[in-house]
Amino acid sequence: MPSTNGTVAPTSSWGTIPSSDVSRRTFNPIREVLSRPVQPLATVKSSNDPISLSIGDPTVFGNFKAHPVVVDAIEAAVRSYSFNGYPPSVGVPAAREAIAKKYSHPDALLTANDVIMASGCSGAVEMAIGVLCSEGQNILLPRPGFCLYNTIAASRNIEARLYNLLADKSWEIDIAHMESLINKDTAAILINNPSNPCGSNYTKAHLKAILAVCERHKIPLISDEIYADMVFGAQVFTPTATLTATVPVLTVGGLAKQWLVPGWRLGWILVNDRNHAFEHVRQGLFALSTLINGPCAIAQAALPSIFENIPDSYLPDLNKQLETHARILETELSKAPGLEVITPQGAMYIMVKLNIEAFEDIADDADFCHKLKWEENVEILPGECFAYPGTVRLVITPPKDKLHLAAERIAAFCQRHHK
Ligand SMILES: Cc1ncc(COP(=O)(O)O)c(C=O)c1O
Repeated sequence: MPSTNGTVAPTSSWGTIPSSDVSRRTFNPIREVLSRPVQPLATVKSSNDPISLSIGDPTVFGNFKAHPVVVDAIEAAVRSYSFNGYPPSVGVPAAREAIAKKYSHPDALLTANDVIMASGCSGAVEMAIGVLCSEGQNILLPRPGFCLYNTIAASRNIEARLYNLLADKSWEIDIAHMESLINKDTAAILINNPSNPCGSNYTKAHLKAILAVCERHKIPLISDEIYADMVFGAQVFTPTATLTATVPVLTVGGLAKQWLVPGWRLGWILVNDRNHAFEHVRQGLFALSTLINGPCAIAQAALPSIFENIPDSYLPDLNKQLETHARILETELSKAPGLEVITPQGAMYIMVKLNIEAFEDIADDADFCHKLKWEENVEILPGECFAYPGTVRLVITPPKDKLHLAAERIAAFCQRHHK
């Protein structure tokens, strides 16, 4: 019989089997916020069609489709019958080779041995944190930041120390604050560039300032570059590892965003280590890769052909479309009272600061999102999901007409609740 908290009461002498400590410590705020039932409010419930700008999945509306080259590559991999067996745990050799070739840089050379395949970039982040940090140590993470980092740290009993990003400096890291969080138990620093949720893209000078902190304290860096090369206008993306000859860097990436196939669950780790500081870490990554015997072999097998055959125009075209989408939301939302839009420079998101004082009856970001969903049927994520209250995050990938409509509804909502 379902109990009041949604669980089922035990009906036999088995009682209830406890779940593990690790599982109880594992909590993903985005999933939690999205599965919260919308509590009825006194105001009129919207009869609008729903528009969701909440999940960072570019495939949801069907307007961003994987390129035919990507589809052909996986079809060929399936039809070859060569990838139905277990791949080596660290990855299919041709896939590791293709990634090394694509991401190798004169200032950060890579070979296939420096590439470890993972189950999505999520799996890569989990392995990177897992190989560098032990229970009881701490890791420095961005605030606002992608919540999976905190989820992984908490589940492994690793303390997450959150360094501040500065909204009025295009979300650059407050370097002094970051450095002040370091102590003898700090095992790694993690950065995310371009950023989810901020849509920011760091300059070379800023990345060098971050690397200097790592150098001073001899702390390795994890650089989450799942949005690598996804930048707008005159912005230039720089892979962090290309800016240092000394700091050991684990760069994590994947196919999900740029190639518009998050469901393929393919990610990777690039081991950037010119001074052999990561000898044990490499062995550790090999060991961790055996936990799942590597990600899907078919998706890996498609990689070489994707990288080789994708037209040069693919990425610039994708970025142009994303930028057009971002500017629609930025322009429209900037007109709404009580909102301050921070111009995105890349990735797939836009962060908006709420001037809570300017609203009559909105308590905080969670309340804003809840009332917006009830009254306008637009779903966006509150800053609480990114440890940054007072903001909301919108995904820019829905079709342009949906973005206009969503922005119109948000503006009407703000007008209605504004003092
Ligand atoms: C910053 C960041 N890192 C990692 C991931 C995980 O990517 P994947 O879907 O490949 O697991 C995401 C997904 O949204 C992300 O935004």
